[in-house]
Amino acid sequence: MNGTRKPIGVIGTGYVGLVTAVGFAEIGCEVYCVDIDPAKIAMLERGEVPIYEPGLEEMIAANSSRLHFSTSLDDMVAHARLLFVCVGTPPTHAGDADLSAVYAVVDAVPASADHVLVMKSTVPCGTGRTLKRVLAEQGKGSLAYVSCPEFLKEGSAIDDFLHPDRVVIGDEGGVAGDEVEALYAPLRAPIVRTDIASAEMIKLAANAFLATKISFINEIANVCEELDANVIDVAEGIGLDHRIGPKFLQAGVGYGGSCFTKDVSALKLLAANSGYHFQLLSSVIEVNELQKRRVVAKLQRHLDPLAGKRIALLGLAFKPNTDDMRGASSLVLASRLEAEGALVRTYDPIAETEALKVMPKLDCADSAQDVVVDADAVVLVTEWPEFLELDWSTVAGAMRGKLVIDGRNALDPEIIRAAGLVYEGIGRA
Ligand code: UDX
Repeated sequence: MNGTRKPIGVIGTGYVGLVTAVGFAEIGCEVYCVDIDPAKIAMLERGEVPIYEPGLEEMIAANSSRLHFSTSLDDMVAHARLLFVCVGTPPTHAGDADLSAVYAVVDAVPASADHVLVMKSTVPCGTGRTLKRVLAEQGKGSLAYVSCPEFLKEGSAIDDFLHPDRVVIGDEGGVAGDEVEALYAPLRAPIVRTDIASAEMIKLAANAFLATKISFINEIANVCEELDANVIDVAEGIGLDHRIGPKFLQAGVGYGGSCFTKDVSALKLLAANSGYHFQLLSSVIEVNELQKRRVVAKLQRHLDPLAGKRIALLGLAFKPNTDDMRGASSLVLASRLEAEGALVRTYDPIAETEALKVMPKLDCADSAQDVVVDADAVVLVTEWPEFLELDWSTVAGAMRGKLVIDGRNALDPEIIRAAGLVYEGIGRA
């Protein structure tokens, strides 16, 4: 695409920041990226990417002439008008969103009528209003503010950026919202223009709804197990109804990742703080926590007692194509199994380093072939493509026991049974 588009700034070079930066560079913008972490900026300047996201490193390399990295805001402020805020908003101990990084940005930006803060970070509904008040108190009231929440999924983030289902722009009138809309125009996505609070709520409500869909199908799966029905067929049958749709109806070991875990809880607490009890979300969260533990009960039913049993976990990341371990079901599973005295070995093609940061004593094998050796049971936790292509006869030969638990309903039961193994999925008759 052409290189004549206006420069932009991106503050924060995590998943959202880097993908936003490289996405806009790809459609022709000069992008000035800032991060407070000098080690991260040094890596990026060397062309190294601090996170694993398919295609990201290649796209950064292809656009390196348009990407500028710094720990200082100066260059960015000198060149760019739209400053995209992409800093982390992790949960506090109370479950609310920790906005300290957002406030640090507000403190750092200059008082300027020539700049616009475009909030991409997920923030509670009402944050924009508060930030505008804080900016005014700091004498920065002329700085415009736009909410433009990010909906990308890890593992397919670049494609999600370039082909979004929609772009949501919340503003209070004036030209800033129009400028953000013009910036996104080459992506030809549907644009939703609204006020700031509604834009913030769209992001939280979208994640809460998707998490609700997953907890719903997981509960249907659990009932299917009691009634000898098959949740895969049930999901297909209900998903063909256009009002329901087929996506996010895969039963499994529960949803993970930073966003669902954080945003569902943040929305529930946001409602509670304003005096409303969001009953449905309490159940969505509880169902998910129980779902992560159900595999332990399945293992117990077959192998009781679990003490001394060797359990191989295939996959650690919260989903395939990422090294992100935040909220990963594997963490709950591994901890619960270890608490029962089981001997847990794990293998993940990408996430081992991140997993060891959270669980330093995790016993990690070098390959899928290695992790199953002498196992009493194998549990598929993350549906990485290489696990779907395993030779189950070889696996059966290497195992000590016969049990395979498919925590993602991603394997073919017939193939596994033909190898002489016992197959159990989630909600599959
Ligand atoms: C999510 C939202 O999809 C995205 O729009 C938002 O910007 C960030 O949060 P992400 O966390 O990257 O994205 O992962 P996603 O693909 O949505 O999966 C989340 C979790 O749900 C994963 O653990 C996945 O395995 C699980 N999942 C998903 C299911 O268990 N069943 C499903 O049918 C779909």
